[in-house]
Amino acid sequence: MSSERLFSLRNRWFATAAGVTALIAVASATVGFVWLPLLQPTAGFAGLWDAICSAAGLVRAVPVAEPVVQANYKTTNVNLSSKVPGNSSAISIGRGATLAMQCTMCHGARGLSEADSPNLAGQYALAIFKQLQDYKSGARISAIMGPRVVTLTDQDMHDLAAYYAYLPRLPAYHPATARPTPRIVESGAPMRNIAPCASCHGSIDYKGGSPWLEGESPVYLMTQLNAFASGARHNDISQQMRNIARGMSPAEIEAAALYYASQP
Ligand code: HEC
Ligand code: HEC
Repeated sequence: MSSERLFSLRNRWFATAAGVTALIAVASATVGFVWLPLLQPTAGFAGLWDAICSAAGLVRAVPVAEPVVQANYKTTNVNLSSKVPGNSSAISIGRGATLAMQCTMCHGARGLSEADSPNLAGQYALAIFKQLQDYKSGARISAIMGPRVVTLTDQDMHDLAAYYAYLPRLPAYHPATARPTPRIVESGAPMRNIAPCASCHGSIDYKGGSPWLEGESPVYLMTQLNAFASGARHNDISQQMRNIARGMSPAEIEAAALYYASQP
């Protein structure tokens, strides 16, 4: 007995132990990879191999391709990247200043509007460039701005953006006594999935493409928020602003607009 080799199939004990272990392995593989997957009534496996692959965690081809839902309106085709809107050389700013002559009657000689057109002085170049592109493509609809951008080339838009971004932010023409920060601006509304406005709009942190809001006219801000909420304005990438504006109450929209308008 003692002369018998331990790890040999001739050893009865070893053969039995190995056999039982193999049996358990095969049985559990059958249960885990075949039986349990096939028990799911909704999985719709094409066959045995499909069920095994699914249980092993492999990505399965979707059996029936769902039609891709497309918006029935124009969305933005601006692709934001660090190369947009290009570098702002002195030449670019100079060209922009010349082009901006056509814009002064509404946006002001120094990019500050006395009417309710948005201020452009000190606005982020990226935001200006994106909006001009969207007016041109029809993703953002405006009877006033639409016709004014049709002749602008990409380079013109780069230059205009560079020029306006270069202008200093000055106190706006809508002086109002500074207001305390409303709750929606300061901390958003976590239960409604609304991040603080300042986390994207520049005063705390900046998300590419969001415009600087401080000092804009309250009428303009309110109009834009309501337009996002109703979907009339739909050029924001991934519905970032539409989702926020839809979750805001009319009182919050008014409070946010008045607050931003009162900021220098
Ligand atoms: C007749 C008045 C008028 C003229 C001229 C005009 N704009 Fe505008 N602009 C507006 C108004 C009004 C809006 C807001 C429109 C809206 O609600 O979408 C606007 C919006 C914009 C915006 C979007 C700003 C933002 O914060 O979203 C940009 C950028 C802009 N204009 C740039 C220009 C440039 C550049 C020119 C000159 C080539 C120009 N505009 C000429 C009236 C004008
Ligand atoms: C997740 C980031 C994010 C948050 C949070 C956010 N915004 Fe925006 N907002 C954007 C972006 C991006 C745009 C530009 C959309 C586009 O491409 O036209 C925008 C545009 C706007 C505009 C239009 C400005 C203009 O000149 O065209 C207003 C007004 C505005 N936001 C107000 C708010 C307010 C008020 C809050 C807080 C309740 C807020 N936003 C929170 C990302 C954000």
